[in-house]
Amino acid sequence: MKIATFTSGGKGGTGKTTLSSLLILGMSKSGIRTLLIDASSEGGASRLLLGNPEPPYLRDVFDGKTRLGDAIGLFEITNYCEFYMLPNIGVLPRVDLREFFLELRRFGKFFDLVIVDLPAFQDSWYHGFSLNSDIVVKVAEPNHSSFAACLQSPPENGNIVYVLNQPRIYPPSVTRKYRENLEAKTGSEVLVFPYEPAVTILNPSNAEKVLSKISPKFQDSLLKLGFRLAKPKTVKIYEYG
Ligand SMILES: Nc1ncnc2c1ncn2[C@@H]1O[C@H](COP(=O)(O)OP(=O)(O)OP(=O)(O)O)[C@@H](O)[C@H]1O
Ligand SMILES: [Mg+2]
Repeated sequence: MKIATFTSGGKGGTGKTTLSSLLILGMSKSGIRTLLIDASSEGGASRLLLGNPEPPYLRDVFDGKTRLGDAIGLFEITNYCEFYMLPNIGVLPRVDLREFFLELRRFGKFFDLVIVDLPAFQDSWYHGFSLNSDIVVKVAEPNHSSFAACLQSPPENGNIVYVLNQPRIYPPSVTRKYRENLEAKTGSEVLVFPYEPAVTILNPSNAEKVLSKISPKFQDSLLKLGFRLAKPKTVKIYEYG
């Protein structure tokens, strides 16, 4: 089992929740056993994929009110797929994250991949998620402040996947410049996601329809990201369209 945390440092709105939510659906649909953990306080992925989920939440696990296994739910996008998720709504108590990750790794025989969706950094406690993960997915936009925030956020080294996402329309020359710059600085390939109007209207009741409208270019990036995280030996390739 691999644990991958999505982060953007201190700059929010770069697309962490959108990409991690689409990824859990794509991976689950492809038969890869994936769990999405929502570590945001305002219910980012929980609201996007589930609307208004009932507790238990991640914060109840951190509070010691619920066991981890009892808080993981199996949910469904009608006519599309079932997926595992640990939702959250509300402020997370600042527990020792090493213990939480040790507990999480006990679920290694149930899941191939765990994705953690972080909010934009609120304080240094959130570093613990990245530091205890196997892979950190840094999601930046091709602009100066997002780029800088992404490069600064820990870990400095380790297994990092860099993503340039475009939640708004950027000129191709700008995206190319940031991509080349990031690749030169990090020495690793950067995955670029195009602006995709369909994802802006995603909600639990229209997910199947939205997924069918996603452009081949966006799908391709999602597939590449999935491969980078899970590196499955065999995978049933599914096309949204
Ligand atoms: N590639 C994309 N194309 C079009 N819109 C996008 C794309 N990626 C994200 N968005 C839109 O950008 C907005 C912010 O995305 P999202 O909530 O996923 O960001 P986030 O990084 O999770 O934000 P936060 O830091 O607040 O948690 C949303 O309205 C989403 O629909
Ligand atoms: Mg988010």
